[in-house]
Amino acid sequence: MKQFFIQTFGCQMNVYDGWRIATMLKSRGMTQTENVSDADIIILNTCAVRAKATDKVFSALGRIRRAKKPDALMGIVGCVAREVGSDAFRRVPELNFVLGPQSYHKLPQILDNPDTRLLNIDLGGLEKFDELPQMTTAPTVSYIPIQEGCNHCCTYCIVPYTRGRELSRSFDDCMRDTLHAAKTGAVEICFLGQNVNGYKYTDENGKTFRLSDLIRETSKIPEIMRIRFTSSYPTEMTDDLIEMFATEPKLLPFLNMPIQSGSPNVLRRMNRPYDLDQYISIVEKLRIARPDIQISSDFIVGFPDESDSDFDETLQIAKRIGYINSYCFKYSPRPHTGAALLPNQIPENIKASRLALLDNTLNEIQRSFNISCIDKTLPCLYEGPDKTGLHSVYRTPYMQQCIVALAGKSDAPTMANITITDANKASLRGKFAE
Ligand code: SAH
Ligand code: F3S
Repeated sequence: MKQFFIQTFGCQMNVYDGWRIATMLKSRGMTQTENVSDADIIILNTCAVRAKATDKVFSALGRIRRAKKPDALMGIVGCVAREVGSDAFRRVPELNFVLGPQSYHKLPQILDNPDTRLLNIDLGGLEKFDELPQMTTAPTVSYIPIQEGCNHCCTYCIVPYTRGRELSRSFDDCMRDTLHAAKTGAVEICFLGQNVNGYKYTDENGKTFRLSDLIRETSKIPEIMRIRFTSSYPTEMTDDLIEMFATEPKLLPFLNMPIQSGSPNVLRRMNRPYDLDQYISIVEKLRIARPDIQISSDFIVGFPDESDSDFDETLQIAKRIGYINSYCFKYSPRPHTGAALLPNQIPENIKASRLALLDNTLNEIQRSFNISCIDKTLPCLYEGPDKTGLHSVYRTPYMQQCIVALAGKSDAPTMANITITDANKASLRGKFAE
């Protein structure tokens, strides 16, 4: 029996793509191995968002080509394939296939013709979702991609190049996948898209569906207890969607809505043309709809020409909104993007010190939010045992990890009310509520 090895880097969309590839290979009778040297086909499912992510892929390929069986097939799929294209074969001559994010369903071609080289980085649309076999069992937290690509064209971002223009899947296809996930084990649905709240699909009768319609319909599925979505673009948080936080209790009180920077000047050069008042008023509307809502963000520090006072505005907005579960990154110039060509690129040491400062601020906010949860009872979703096997790991509605002692219970319930007993920056501790 043939074995495959797959390693996934990057975002949740990639994680989802990896599941679909694994399902397809299993349907062809192959088994998954964690060991590169046992594999007959090796797939790196890649991320190109920062230079470091791309470099990681090429250093992994360097290690793998020495460890693999001589006749094993080896290739890359996803965003680095699209970023680098045929040059990947020059850099790593042992590569057998290079398939972009919208052509990984062509993988069987290389299995059927192992002596050829396969290059396909076309942005062909979303037929991959329909061409690959469905997963037979769904994970408890199931990702459902509803749109792919992005039309926002932030000047730093390679994603519009790698994943293409925005395309939304049909409402019926999204709901079919959601129902299938619910019937085969999903308890939480996370709708995915690079610009997920831009989801818009008009059917043959001229009826238009938005993300709010998907949320309302999914709420009716009894097996589904929690719903969320990622990533959102601030100005696409339309009132119908904000309203969902007031009317659909299954929609979690947590929203990832990246602001990227607190400086109007930097936002303009990033081609994120919202102003801070607009952003803040969206947050206020969300808090009226769901008073306990928490917001997370991504931030980029050291964007070209970012001054100390620009950066200070980022620190201010982070504190003002009180973001939890947030990430900050040093700006990384990427090919196929406008910002890479801008003058006044920021030196590495300044980027590093701004990153450390912002990281500190975000960690401090996270720590005080975690501490504010002590003594609260939250409905949590079981994730699995911890490393010791003595405790269970649960996820709160705010995506915090919570460690719970099983305390005589033989099985951890899938959903449980958990009283938070202790907290630090990284996680919570709790006990099953009486
Ligand atoms: N909306 C997208 C965001 C993709 S990139 C999605 O979820 O698919 C994820 C984050 O990486 C961005 O929000 C941004 O903060 C960061 N990022 C993107 N391009 C970057 C670059 N060139 N340098 C540093 N960080 C970057
Ligand atoms: Fe990238 Fe901006 Fe879209 S970060 S994915 S171009 S919203």
